[in-house]
Amino acid sequence: MTRTELIKKLPKAELHLHIEGTFEPELMFEIARRNRIVTRFSTIADIKKAYNFHNLQSFLDIYYEGANVLLHERDFYDLTMAYLIRCKEDNVVHTEIFFDPQTHTDRGVTFETIFKGIHGALKDAEKELCITSHMIMCFLRHLSEEDAFKTLKDSLPFKKDILAVGLDSSEVGHPPAKFQRVFEAAMKEGYLTVAHAGEEGPPAYIWEALDLLKIKRIDHGVRALEDEKLMDRIISDKIPLTVCPLSNLKLCVFKKLSDHNLKKLLQRGVKVTINSDDPAYFGGYANQNYLETAEALDLSEDELKTLAVNSFEASFLDDKIKLEWIKKVQSC
Ligand code: ADE
Ligand code: ZN
Repeated sequence: MTRTELIKKLPKAELHLHIEGTFEPELMFEIARRNRIVTRFSTIADIKKAYNFHNLQSFLDIYYEGANVLLHERDFYDLTMAYLIRCKEDNVVHTEIFFDPQTHTDRGVTFETIFKGIHGALKDAEKELCITSHMIMCFLRHLSEEDAFKTLKDSLPFKKDILAVGLDSSEVGHPPAKFQRVFEAAMKEGYLTVAHAGEEGPPAYIWEALDLLKIKRIDHGVRALEDEKLMDRIISDKIPLTVCPLSNLKLCVFKKLSDHNLKKLLQRGVKVTINSDDPAYFGGYANQNYLETAEALDLSEDELKTLAVNSFEASFLDDKIKLEWIKKVQSC
């Protein structure tokens, strides 16, 4: 079996995926047209030309601009369903998706509209495509603690269907400590916690996310290798890292994919997973991330299987279901 065949065959969980980051230009145009919104782009080629990033912020500016055309429950449904159909093609059988309520509520869209659109598609995909999922609500870290508290309050009527809270957007200058009290309040409401840390920010942000926000997984975390004590903690506490190789390449966290430290992390015994982050912007969904990384780092069959096993072990699935998927990976 070739690498490509193995990657296609492996069942996988995706644990780091921003639903707004799956907004393909074709669908963006279609939704803008039906909502009668004029954007500054006149062709799909124009949009794609703008997808040329030099750091996280240069991407976020365009990502928030694209999300502006999402207004109605049906828009959020269509966005989510399009991603789930891509999951089916890539044999992603379980996905834990991030959504950014503040990107939309700040424009007057209600929390209920956003939630119902995304959740409706996830439930339909469970029945029609056999893909299971969880929802993770992210706070935008460039906004205030007060704004995050308001978002937490907005989420409470829907909390039985939102498993965790997360932290995303502009990392540097917005350390996890800024959100310690909101995360404590979220945990009291029963939410699990995750956070982006160590994507562009220093290892100190990863320490804060672990110690202050009590996170169960680190989103990105690739800068952990700069701090040996932190590596010891991550390895001994078996804290998973949701790594996004094509994202790291496009946002210039690494110059070349062959410079990526994923293989080193894996060989040190870190529970690393591969994910697509914002696939419509970074050039590929789950399998493309697996494939290009495998080529660039010469990952072996065993390493690819370990990555797929890790994706289930690091997920928030029940233990029994995790084991069933892990057995299926091992028999590939
Ligand atoms: N929002 C969407 N993608 C992100 C990323 N890679 N880092 C931080 N915030 C994000
Ligand atoms: Zn992300």
